[in-house]
Amino acid sequence: MASKYSSLLAHLLLFVCSVLLLPNSSSSESTKVSVDLYYETLCPDCSDFIVKHLIKLFDTGLISAVDLNLVPYGNARLGTNDTITCQHGPSECLLNTVEACAIETWPALNDHFPFIYCVESLVYEHKYPQWESCYEKLGLNSTLIAECYNSGHGKELELKYAAETNALQPPHQYVPWVVVDGQPLYEDYENFLSYVCNAYNGTAMLKGCNEYLNTIQMAGEKPNDPVACKEGKMPALFGRIRSTLTSWM
Ligand SMILES: *[C@@H]1O[C@H](CO)[C@@H](O)[C@H](O)[C@H]1NC(C)=O
Ligand SMILES: *[C@@H]1O[C@H](CO)[C@@H](O)[C@H](O)[C@H]1NC(C)=O
Ligand SMILES: *[C@@H]1O[C@H](CO)[C@@H](O)[C@H](O)[C@H]1NC(C)=O
Repeated sequence: MASKYSSLLAHLLLFVCSVLLLPNSSSSESTKVSVDLYYETLCPDCSDFIVKHLIKLFDTGLISAVDLNLVPYGNARLGTNDTITCQHGPSECLLNTVEACAIETWPALNDHFPFIYCVESLVYEHKYPQWESCYEKLGLNSTLIAECYNSGHGKELELKYAAETNALQPPHQYVPWVVVDGQPLYEDYENFLSYVCNAYNGTAMLKGCNEYLNTIQMAGEKPNDPVACKEGKMPALFGRIRSTLTSWM
């Protein structure tokens, strides 16, 4: 009864907040929740997570409250002389490196995420050999990615991601390995938005968290404090990403 009441109250306050929102409210960098995705490009569960779940960050607008860190290395292994062996073979090593090059070449999330989403959509559809079609679909120049890959710089980026992945505490056990606010989600990773909403610090009620509110309360974790009215602003580029993604889907 009490939780039903507080849920109703929270929804009411959310509604009041959304009505009273000031247009110039903005979220500060320091309150963003870190979301780290350790993955490898050809693992089916990874492409499934990116295509069906990670994309919800953009659908809900919660991306404005998140620092998303993509680490395309996964279960690859380091051998002697810094050789890298990938779980799904050389094609995976190539695509891991290409995605690493994309992240460095186009550092803004709204620039590299559509590319990675495109490649992983093809993986999801078992059409990854067509990955280069993503350049044309998204109007991207492939030259810098090719240079990054062919010069060996991409390999250096993969070695950096290898170090980052191998330094995980606790170590990753499988992929996708999703870490929210420093905590691994283990097998509950598809539910990552609930963890994001829960980790988001108290003074704000995130609009996009509406549908995750009940999940949080049912999990018996600390409820967000719906007292202050502040909104994580819809990222200006969200619309662009979404329209880019839907235009070729
Ligand atoms: C929330 O606040 C706690 C305590 O100040 C801090 O340790 C934590 O990192 C904060 N989380 C986020 C996502 O800002
Ligand atoms: C590692 O590299 C060194 C120097 O290039 C080479 O002499 C050695 O044979 C390599 N070791 C292996 C296991 O490939
Ligand atoms: C692609 O980028 C390269 C390097 O920046 C540049 O020289 C080339 O003209 C670009 N190609 C197109 C079609 O824009």
